[in-house]
Amino acid sequence: MIDLLKALTGFAGCAVAALLSATAAGAQDPGLDAWRGIYAVFSHPRCANCHVEDDRPRWSGAHYGRTRVHDMNVQRGADGLGNPGMRCTTCHQEQNAAQRHGPPGAPAWHLAPAEMVWWQKSSKEICEQVKDPARNGNRTLDEIALHVRDDDLVSWGWQPGTGREPAPGSAEETYQLLRQWSAAGAPCPAD
Ligand code: HEC
Ligand code: HEC
Repeated sequence: MIDLLKALTGFAGCAVAALLSATAAGAQDPGLDAWRGIYAVFSHPRCANCHVEDDRPRWSGAHYGRTRVHDMNVQRGADGLGNPGMRCTTCHQEQNAAQRHGPPGAPAWHLAPAEMVWWQKSSKEICEQVKDPARNGNRTLDEIALHVRDDDLVSWGWQPGTGREPAPGSAEETYQLLRQWSAAGAPCPAD
């Protein structure tokens, strides 16, 4: 009898422990799960190379070899379109150049404003920037989602041209993740 009781208690204890550890490991938070997918896109080189806080776009990602500032002394300039004589659109046309290492292209190629910085920022930092109207171009979260679905420079991240690895997923999937994140209260991770 005692043995049976011990066996039962042991079994029950195990079941509770298993349940607790499953809850801790798989903690389901639909908002944070959606954010993780969004962060994988926003922090990807195809997006972050243009979202920098200093004056230099970046060349990073497998196609570029080592990570570095944009070659040829390219800089932001007063309007994000480059210094006089080194305007982005001199080299960056509306479409990708066909050859490997040729300039990628999309209409009105230019740098994101410095306050929209994602380059080497943490998931928490990017999350807080995206939610902050003072730093996101005064957009609501719905407007952010639509920008990601419809903007030409954003779309380029999934059609980046010969040899460049595209951002994960698609514009439509990222749009849906932004809607889910927003509907769940747009939580940000702890770090
Ligand atoms: C060629 C440069 C360039 C690339 C590449 C680029 N962006 Fe941007 N991004 C910009 C510019 C410029 C703005 C500012 C547009 C405005 O405010 O009207 C911007 C603004 C944004 C904004 C709104 C403001 C904010 O930061 O919250 C989002 C969201 C965004 N981009 C998403 C993306 C995503 C996602 C990718 C990659 C799939 C990407 N961008 C790639 C240039 C770029
Ligand atoms: C003199 C020509 C030239 C000018 C001017 C120029 N670029 Fe580029 N850019 C290139 C070339 C060429 C590449 C591709 C290099 C490669 O693939 O190895 C490139 C690549 C890039 C990339 C990397 C995109 C990626 O794959 O993630 C970004 C971002 C970029 N340029 C932004 C800019 C911005 C913003 C400006 C203006 C402020 C600008 N460029 C001005 C020639 C130029």
